[in-house]
Amino acid sequence: MPAVITSHGGYVPEHDGKITFYVILCVIISAFGGLLFGYDIGISGGVTSMDDFLIKFFPAVYEKKKLVHEDNYCKYDNEYLQLFTSSLYIAALVASFVASKVCSKFGRRTTLQIGSFFFVAGVALQAGGFNLAMVVLGRIILGFGVGFGNQAVPLFLSELAPARLRGALNICFQLFITIGILIAGIINYFTSNIHPHGWRISLGLAGVPAMILLVGSFTICETPTSLIERNQIDQGKATLRRIRGTDNIDAEFDSMVAASEAARQVKNPFRKLMKPSSRPPLVIAIVLQVFQQFTGINAIMFYAPVLFQTVGFGSNAALLSTVITGLVNVFSTLVSIYTVDKAGRRVLLLEACVQMFITQTVIGMLLLLHLKPAGSLSSTEAIVVVVLVCVYVMGFAWSWGPLGWLIPSETFPLETRTAGFACAVSSNMLFTFIIAQAFLSMLCHMKAGIFFFFAAWILVMGLFTLFLLPETKGVPVDSMVERVWKQHWFWKRYMIDDDNDDDNVIKG
Ligand code: BGC
Repeated sequence: MPAVITSHGGYVPEHDGKITFYVILCVIISAFGGLLFGYDIGISGGVTSMDDFLIKFFPAVYEKKKLVHEDNYCKYDNEYLQLFTSSLYIAALVASFVASKVCSKFGRRTTLQIGSFFFVAGVALQAGGFNLAMVVLGRIILGFGVGFGNQAVPLFLSELAPARLRGALNICFQLFITIGILIAGIINYFTSNIHPHGWRISLGLAGVPAMILLVGSFTICETPTSLIERNQIDQGKATLRRIRGTDNIDAEFDSMVAASEAARQVKNPFRKLMKPSSRPPLVIAIVLQVFQQFTGINAIMFYAPVLFQTVGFGSNAALLSTVITGLVNVFSTLVSIYTVDKAGRRVLLLEACVQMFITQTVIGMLLLLHLKPAGSLSSTEAIVVVVLVCVYVMGFAWSWGPLGWLIPSETFPLETRTAGFACAVSSNMLFTFIIAQAFLSMLCHMKAGIFFFFAAWILVMGLFTLFLLPETKGVPVDSMVERVWKQHWFWKRYMIDDDNDDDNVIKG
């Protein structure tokens, strides 16, 4: 019998069990959490470039935009406009720590339910907003939804998945993010021509997936791992039987109970996370999220319509180009699902660094040489920019996008997994916030130099990957310490035994 990694990280013989219809349903419903995250990422750029929206909430930006002589790079530079986009992420950052506690105390399903309430409330406030405060408040509440959703969904997916499909199902989260971004782009394309309330439709249509998530979250089950962790042993067993569609679950069930008992020995996962032996996965989880954001991806995802207008497209063409990059994003994520367990994580990350470095540098040079503060690129040059952006997005979508979430979910030992993952989620939100808040000002001050700034970061992350990121492909989660960290030329120095630390272990 082949050995595989279980959903909770144990190394045990492969278990019986099919992919039941019920599991598929649960996966799709929960992945709507990712879709809503993606929708929120994708919708704001289009909305903030719509004149009706600007006239209502940001008249100063609108006036500036109308001035033909206004500096290309600066026409959208307004800290309040950026605050509209970025407020969501700062709220999500705070929420993810609360969500991590809710997740372990009350379960993944409850966390998702709370998240979907936030989504519905946030959408209603935003779409009905009649002043800026209301719209920003709506966005903050949506941020709570994102914080709860992003903490619960990846854990939910990997705990529900049969072991052999864990990696692929984990990337479904990212796939749904990209689908959300794409749908938002398409909707913006159509609503931008609906006056004066197109922006309300764009923001309000998030209500559809939010309602699906809300209603759906009452039909999905709790994960067996979470039930067992919370001492609902019989229910855990019954759920496992249901989702695997077989009675032959004893081995998997026993290994879940054993892993949960071992994890229960650790009294304070956050304190354990501060110990030297937790440093390698912690540093890698945080650094990968920081790097993911410093690829500059969200400069494109949030502000693509703005950016494409900056290089000279009309607003419709700019929104259409955004749809094109959205399609590239979705299809390239599929490539990752197929290759990640074959080619390995490092190959994908390194290849993408080369691809992204070249494209960012060439875009920077093109703008530097041809886009003056007033005037625009020729149409051929503008098309070349769109093509380069597509090649760049392609590289991100099969590497730093999905792997930024996958690697932190597979490198922590069980006892620090939820806490460690919360650190990863909140670092992602922090740096997403920074980019969302700073990008338009950076574009205004650094002009084309912003692309060289991101290219320099890509160089740094390539070097980090080359020297400090170990390959985790095919390594059972429970063997990570022995087979990865203790063997690594650099990280092995942290692998000292701190397991018997009085602070961490409950005395038996
Ligand atoms: C990132 C988002 C990004 C998206 C693009 C995700 O993995 O966390 O910040 O916008 O990928 O597809």
